[in-house]
Amino acid sequence: MNDWSRANFLDLNTFRGLGEDPVYHPPVLTDRPREWPLDQWADAPRDLGYPDFARYQWRGLRMLKDPDTQAAYHDLLWELRPRTVVELGVYSGGSLVWFRDLARLMGLDCQVIGIDKDLSRCQIPDTERTGITLREADCSQLETFEPLRGAAHPLIFIDDAHSNTFAIMKWAVGHLLEEGDYFIVEDMIPYWHRYSPALLTQYLASFRDVLAMDMVYANASSQLDRGVFRRSTTKE
Ligand SMILES: C[S@@+](CC[C@H](N)C(=O)[O-])C[C@H]1O[C@@H](n2cnc3c(N)ncnc32)[C@H](O)[C@@H]1O
Repeated sequence: MNDWSRANFLDLNTFRGLGEDPVYHPPVLTDRPREWPLDQWADAPRDLGYPDFARYQWRGLRMLKDPDTQAAYHDLLWELRPRTVVELGVYSGGSLVWFRDLARLMGLDCQVIGIDKDLSRCQIPDTERTGITLREADCSQLETFEPLRGAAHPLIFIDDAHSNTFAIMKWAVGHLLEEGDYFIVEDMIPYWHRYSPALLTQYLASFRDVLAMDMVYANASSQLDRGVFRRSTTKE
């Protein structure tokens, strides 16, 4: 008999806590001892750098938010007490479960909505979906966002998909955000500032009458660096 006919195959998209995923295993250092002697502290190599893919998880689900960013969102949730969190970019879904759990712990009545063009990598089990709405859609199509118009406020809108960001920001300002609501651009502002500084500053300046950068959270972590915007006036 062949191997394939004897094997019991797991569904890789639905199995949670997959043992192969490096996030669940501490790294194995092969070229240096993990326990470095303190009498040679000054000679320790510093070339490992930081992983290019964050190693964070929430209750067994990968979550691409580092601890500083988690702390900033904790404070923002507590301060704003949002009724809705919309996150563009679901990936494993860990951040959606984390937002839902944190809001629950705080006693908030908050609906979490995740939008992604590819939900096949989402590993949120069916038993963990209370308070979470998943929508498969492409951020390049603005009609994707129409159903959000009925969402409760205060509202936090997070762009962690990095596609069509400024067109979405324009749509959100025009059709969704009320005074005090947030539009947050994760990760990308430092890159755009480095590679397209003129366009970035021009785009941001065009929102000067309707959005302001919240300086409490815009300096709170590298992922949120200069990307936390608050709706400053009510809709015309
Ligand atoms: C950085 S991951 C999201 C991580 C997640 N928010 C977290 O914190 O754990 C980015 C996700 O954006 C999705 N994405 C990329 N382009 C998109 C688009 N045009 N429309 C919808 N989703 C998109 C990808 O499929 C991917 O799952």
